[in-house]
This record gives sequence, C-alpha cells and structure tokens, in this order.
Amino acid sequence: MHPVLQKAIVTHHLSKEELIQVLSDEIPFEEVCAAADTIRKKYVGDDIHLRGLIEFSNICKNNCCYCGLRRDNKNITRYRIEPDEIIETAKQAIQELSLKTIVLQSGEDTYFSTDRLCYIIQNIKKHNVALTLSIGEKSLEEYKAYHAAGADRFLLRIETTDKEVYLKNDPGMSWENRIQCLNWLRASGLEVGSGSLIGLPGQTIESLADDILFFQKIDADMIGYGPLIPHPDTPLKNIPHGSFELAIRVMAATRLLLPDINIPATTAMETLHPNGQIIALKSGANVIMPNVTLTAYRKNYELYPGKSNTGYTPKKSYDELVQKIHAIGRSVGTSCGYRMKVKKNES
Ligand code: 5AD
Ligand code: SF4
Repeated sequence: MHPVLQKAIVTHHLSKEELIQVLSDEIPFEEVCAAADTIRKKYVGDDIHLRGLIEFSNICKNNCCYCGLRRDNKNITRYRIEPDEIIETAKQAIQELSLKTIVLQSGEDTYFSTDRLCYIIQNIKKHNVALTLSIGEKSLEEYKAYHAAGADRFLLRIETTDKEVYLKNDPGMSWENRIQCLNWLRASGLEVGSGSLIGLPGQTIESLADDILFFQKIDADMIGYGPLIPHPDTPLKNIPHGSFELAIRVMAATRLLLPDINIPATTAMETLHPNGQIIALKSGANVIMPNVTLTAYRKNYELYPGKSNTGYTPKKSYDELVQKIHAIGRSVGTSCGYRMKVKKNES
C-alpha cells in the first residue's frame, strides 16, 4: 500500500500535501477506494442508513450559478408542499418503508417561518424517527428553535472553502456567513452535515484538500459530495460536468480522515455513472437518501438535469435500493444512524 494511505489508515491525519497526493493520480484510484472501504467497515460497519428525502419546496431566494432552483430560472414550475401534506408524506414513508430518518429539503423559501417549521418537526417526530433539515442559512435562534422542536441534524454544504470561487458561483451570498452558520449549527446542538460540489469553475485539487481539512477542523458529523452537473437554465450550462472519479476520491479521502462520520452515496454520483452509488458505497460511503417526495412534485425539484429516479414511486426507488445493498453484502441499518464518535485507534 502507498505510504500516504498507510499513514492515513493508522493516524487519520494527513498534511495538505499528502491529501493532494490522495486526490491526484499519483495513487491508483482502486487503492484509495479500498483503503476507505476498510476504514468504513472498521468504524461504521456494514449497515447502510437510509434517509427518506422530502423535497418540500423548490422556491428559492438565492441565485447560485449552478442550481436549477435559482431565483432567476423562469423555466421551472414552482411548488411548495403545505405543512400538513409534508407531515403526511413523512408518515407514509415511515410506515411503508420503515425509514428511520426523514430529511426535509427545500430552497430558501421564506414562507416556511420558524413556527411553520417547528409545527412540521414536532409532528414528524411523533413517529419516533430522526429528523434532518436541509433548508439553508438561518440565524442561531432559528437553528436552536428547530433543535428544541425535535430536529436532530442539519445539512448545509459549504460548497467550496475557496472564498473567491464561492463568491463567483453564489452571487449575493456571504462566504463568512456560511461559515458562521456552520458554527451556529454546532452551537445549536444539531448534528452538523456539510459537503462540497466537485467541479466548480476555478476549483482546484488544492482547494478540495482544504475542504476536507476544514471538515476535519469543524468536526463535521456528515459530509456529502456531488459532482457538479450543469443545468441548461443556469449560467454554468456550458461548463463540463464535475469528474465522477474525483468526487469518489474526495469522498474516500474524507472517510480516511473522518473515519466515524456518516457519508452519503449521493444522487449526483448515481446520475453521472450508472453504478455510481454502489461504487461510492464500496469507497467509504454508508448512507443513501432515497427520495420519497411524491412523483408529481419530484420532477420539478431539478437542481440538475437527469436527477436519477425522477418519475419513480418512492416504493420502487426503495425496493431497488434494498436489492442493491444486499447484492453487495451490506445490510440496511435498523437504527436512526446517529454518528457514533469512536476514539481513533482505540476501536
Ligand atoms: N449539480 C450538482 N449538485 C448541485 N447542487 C445544486 N446544483 C447542483 C448541480 N447543478 C447541490 C448543491 C446543494 C445541494 C442541495 O444540491 O451542492 O447544496
Ligand atoms: Fe437555492 Fe440551494 Fe439552489 Fe442555491 S443551491 S439556488 S440556495 S436551492
């Protein structure tokens, strides 16, 4: 095994230069994936946690250059699912598919006030599941209110730690505020999820190494990566899509440095590669987020084109997934799948 991988497996610490080696072609792809798979098995086992994703509003006040939901995109049908219907969708997913976590995701839609969100959270939590929110930048008070209402986790991707690249691709947004939000999330008591896009214009291997070191510094509980897939109704429509292999490498390197966290095999990976999620699951990932949004809404939640499984019913997506999980000798997690912090090298 390459000495840098050997070091990562034993110490879970690498310098930026060493990380860059892991992310570049210097170390064969398969070796990096295999090392991450070993660490995944050692720290989080063979269970794959399924988190049922409900995309409850595609209305967004932001204008991210890569995203199909951006405010200036007039080519999509906007929708917003009312609180009681969100609660009903969650209830059905929990009962029909035995899911142990519900993830509520939306654009930054101000209709969903703290009161409305807390009402939704309290009602879903009656079903004895973990609840994750992925609804963007809020205040510390709001994050605390969600936690007090029963929410367990929150996903907020930094997208990139390279401030210049961030500002170019997320016009009108503040990079400092995004970092602040991640700190507030930590202070609120919620589990903190983050992650990056792979393939933003101007992004480098160096900055991806910085991203991983940043996630290690903030002690993130979950990290997800998506290769950027250009959307035809956005300013980035003509850029090449992000590299699938690089996204997997970054994900595998993250498993090596943050061995006990939750890492999803993301839908964007599956969209770019027909076997993308399975490759991810064999390269460090231990989570999948099956979409349980009603089919009628789902087609309009087009962050990027070709989002895998659009048009399938939740049950069909779920059954397919379980089959895939068993086919690679893994099991479906029966717990809520919180991060179980493991003392490094004493496990
Ligand atoms: N390709 C891939 N991922 C995207 N996201 C938004 N637009 C795209 C795209 N074109 C991701 C962002 C965001 C998450 C919800 O979706 O990283 O955080
Ligand atoms: Fe809105 Fe999120 Fe899309 Fe940005 S990435 S436009 S914040 S939905």
